[in-house]
Amino acid sequence: MKICLLGASGSIGKQTIDVINKFPKDFSLVAFSVGKRTRCISYILRKHPDVKHICIQNKAIANKYKKKYPNITFYSEEKGLLELIRNSDSEMVVNALVGFVGLLPSIEAIKCHKKLALANKESLVVGGDLINSLLKEYNGELYPIDSEHSALWKCLKVDSKDANKLILTASGGSFRKLSRKELENVTPSDALKHPTWRMGNKITIDSATMVNKAFEIIEAGYLFNYPYSKVGVTLHDESYLHSYVSLSSGGYRGEISKPDMRNPIRFALFEGKIPFKTSYFKSLDDLKGLHFHDFDIARFPAINFAKVVLDKKGTMGAILNRSNEEAVYAFLANKIRFLDIEKIITLSLKNMKYIAKPTLEEILEVDRLTKEYAHKLINELGGTL
Ligand SMILES: NC(=O)c1ccc[n+]([C@@H]2O[C@H](COP(=O)([O-])OP(=O)(O)OC[C@H]3O[C@@H](n4cnc5c(N)ncnc54)[C@H](OP(=O)(O)O)[C@@H]3O)[C@@H](O)[C@H]2O)c1
Repeated sequence: MKICLLGASGSIGKQTIDVINKFPKDFSLVAFSVGKRTRCISYILRKHPDVKHICIQNKAIANKYKKKYPNITFYSEEKGLLELIRNSDSEMVVNALVGFVGLLPSIEAIKCHKKLALANKESLVVGGDLINSLLKEYNGELYPIDSEHSALWKCLKVDSKDANKLILTASGGSFRKLSRKELENVTPSDALKHPTWRMGNKITIDSATMVNKAFEIIEAGYLFNYPYSKVGVTLHDESYLHSYVSLSSGGYRGEISKPDMRNPIRFALFEGKIPFKTSYFKSLDDLKGLHFHDFDIARFPAINFAKVVLDKKGTMGAILNRSNEEAVYAFLANKIRFLDIEKIITLSLKNMKYIAKPTLEEILEVDRLTKEYAHKLINELGGTL
């Protein structure tokens, strides 16, 4: 399988390269993109001589690389990501970009009849309905890379008819032991210490606010066609039970393994066509040595954002995503407090324009307007720091 990897310099990107390196007979890297971290390019090229197309975010830097590697075609900026997909002879696009920038490449991959292995959950949060209808129209294939959704995919392969609820496990993020009061003064460096996973900065903050879990509920809703009422969350300390389904006939089925993103990446790259293991259990108490806690929505109210988005759909996902994205980067830059992230999202969902069945252009417009509105809120809230 010829692979085009978007976001090769990131956490998922690097682990995707580990998987490709491990299975050289099955996969060949033919194209990749990086953002600002360009130092990995020469290292990747030494190991992957089939690469003929590279996209670098900055145009001037891409021009420098053009001179150094005349046999490779270089692209730049966001349009370059789409050209990379279009022009490379890849059969599968692995989208490991972070944030809204991943949406158009996901759409382009489907339109170019390439299989899509998707880590960029923001694509589904923003454009879940659009992506599902394109998958139908182009007879496309989408394989999730998120560990929770990879686990659910496996469980549903075994028990698709018997499953009546999807249950996502959540570590609770960096602040799982803190009360709401204690969250008031936490800092970006506190928030970047995730207890069980090493990931990029944005998703680590999203895990601390629990917006990541809200995103995952939405992602599950779109991937498996489940309503909000049929997707639950359980807190789980060790991140070993990756997620599970509740069965109408009684008991549960889940995937239990060491937390290592290379497992879901490998499963997606092999299109789910390799052996896998799930476990049946009567109750969580049967899983000795693993610790679970009931989910307290008052402590983690961000989960309510998933309800709003899955119940109303339309432009709600775009508003949630953009307001979160701007708020997270403002928090990382010490412009706002941790709990302001929730405030900015809540106000954006309340005040931004809702369109029930938006076109792509309308989604892009709502995204742009939400960015402006979030910046206004960031400036107002930042003034109180
Ligand atoms: N990390 C995990 O364990 C994990 C698990 C499940 C799901 N995910 C999801 O996977 C996605 C990637 O997460 P990650 O943790 O790998 O993030 P990350 O480490 O921050 O990597 C993100 C990648 O996107 C690139 N990028 C960002 N903005 C860009 C832009 N404007 N133009 C071009 N490239 C851009 C980055 O380039 P530079 O760094 O070179 O600037 C980097 O290669 C996210 O949607 C996340 O929610 C991650």
